[in-house]
Amino acid sequence: MRRSVVAGMGRYLPERIVTNAELAGRIDTSDEWIRERSGITQRHIAADGEFTSDLATHAARQALAAAGMAPDDIGLIVVATSTPDETFPATATVVQSKLGCTNDSMGFDVQAVCSGFVFALATADNFIKTGQVDTALVIGAETFSRILDWNDRGTCVLFGDGAGAMVLKAGEGEGTSEDRGVLSTHLHSDGNLHDLLYVDGGPSSTGEVGVLRMEGREVFRHAVSKMSAVVVEALEATGLKAEDVNWFVPHQANKRIIDGTARKLGVGAERVVVTIDVHANTSAASIPLALSVAVDDARIKQGDLVLIEAMGGGLTWGSGILRW
Ligand code: COA
Repeated sequence: MRRSVVAGMGRYLPERIVTNAELAGRIDTSDEWIRERSGITQRHIAADGEFTSDLATHAARQALAAAGMAPDDIGLIVVATSTPDETFPATATVVQSKLGCTNDSMGFDVQAVCSGFVFALATADNFIKTGQVDTALVIGAETFSRILDWNDRGTCVLFGDGAGAMVLKAGEGEGTSEDRGVLSTHLHSDGNLHDLLYVDGGPSSTGEVGVLRMEGREVFRHAVSKMSAVVVEALEATGLKAEDVNWFVPHQANKRIIDGTARKLGVGAERVVVTIDVHANTSAASIPLALSVAVDDARIKQGDLVLIEAMGGGLTWGSGILRW
């Protein structure tokens, strides 16, 4: 059975770090409030003239180097983003050009907000499994700082900019949960929950980019229940148990959501990868950023079972199980 095996990871964070204290100097908030309610201590913010495609390209180069591959070895580039450089073309095509690809491979964006990386991974996995491509670059990249209302303390303190990238390549497995590669992906959305988390603009509605609007408490309520449910769905589909999971790498939206979901699933804190404290919520970039960190510090090793999950605007939510 064809499997999509992880061949390399990469990440990029903009140089500029904005601490909670710096935000507290600009708006009515405090380091204590932000840390207590979200677990965030700082976020990275892209420089003027630094675009989502630039962040994505840096992360992609690192992932390609880790995989020992050249840009033209890649058959598919999927960028998960809600903050594209332009309305069109897809940021993936900009990245393709910035990487120097000349092989006419395919590139497109996936838009599922904070669940974007899980949706993009599922997309690339299916292209590989059906044999349409042998290799894929799956990137989550965001400049959420550009779509925040910096006067809305209920939202602007929670997000940051960054990018993470994963190289996948086709491998052969036995069709069991012992195989290396992507073992499952489960995706959901419910458009009736639009008003909980959205951007109040767009090319077809206002003609403006708009800013993020969120019902924080309601989003929180849905997050733990939906993400736990989609993880249970994944475990049941693969015949695995929570205790089989070596590393739980959730979307990094809020430390309290991460803790609540891990507790509900019975995954001990020592097996949870947390980067929300230093990255804040980087939307589609948060999972590949966290994966990259945990690979680099040698927590995630070949053969480990890795569980990812996310929820975002739409609402959208999903999970994935990978054997590294
Ligand atoms: N600094 C200080 N006070 C703040 C604040 C800030 N940055 N933001 C909100 N407050 C205030 C509110 O105005 C409110 O004051 P009031 O009681 O006088 O009205 C109080 O803090 C409590 O607000 P509330 O929104 O009820 O707090 P909360 O405990 O729900 O925490 C969030 C707010 C946003 C941190 C929390 O709801 C959350 O994390 N939600 C999920 C968000 C998320 O993950 N979104 C992305 C999903 S991908």
